[in-house]
Amino acid sequence: MWGMIATWRMAVEGITKGAEMLKDGGDAGDAIESAIREVEDFPYYKSVGYGGLPNEEMEVEMDAAFMDGNTLDIGAVAAIRDFANPVSIARRLSHEKVNSLLVAEGAEKFAHKEGFERKNMLTDRAKAHYRKRIKEMSAQAASQKLKPYSGHDTVGMACLDMSGKMTAATSTSGLFMKKKGRVGDSPISGSGFYADSKKGAASATGLGEDLMKGCISYEIVRLMGEGMHPQEACETA
Ligand code: GLY
Repeated sequence: MWGMIATWRMAVEGITKGAEMLKDGGDAGDAIESAIREVEDFPYYKSVGYGGLPNEEMEVEMDAAFMDGNTLDIGAVAAIRDFANPVSIARRLSHEKVNSLLVAEGAEKFAHKEGFERKNMLTDRAKAHYRKRIKEMSAQAASQKLKPYSGHDTVGMACLDMSGKMTAATSTSGLFMKKKGRVGDSPISGSGFYADSKKGAASATGLGEDLMKGCISYEIVRLMGEGMHPQEACETA
């Protein structure tokens, strides 16, 4: 038995490839990383990786995480800039016993040292969105200025391979026009993601500030561990 589930239409191509890997006996870590990279690499998804919309200083700051449900090892990056595949950096960090969640320049320094691909993640299309939004914002009340995306958000996935191993992973450029340094739920264990091969895996999508009011992904996995159906666990959490 194997399976893979993800947030949003943007994940379809990635999980289609990931499913091929799992069908052939592939590892849940490899499949989920490859599936999320596919989303990060696609330039027209505005909330993940290359082409993601920038913060208020016109910088694309990205958050990502990876969790291995066999070992409960976690790796995550937050507010990282100029690297092509934050999820791969997060997975690499999950092998570290300490320093497994790195932010901003620290995460970039680590990624550079480890040889991860550097890339300017700000596309012309994202710049155009930014300029349009600046114009709109100057005509709006303060309370209306910062809004979550409609219809698009974090890519989050949960994956099970034939050996029974589960993984969870996330990647996002976060909230459009966020403050520099703002971090959402996606790299926060238990909030944006959780995986325990004995119980299940979960990932969240939506406004991080709301999601972080509870350890929602952990709670879903915990409830599944008590025998609750996944749908019921999500609704209860
Ligand atoms: N859920 C993604 C974020 O709020 O950054």
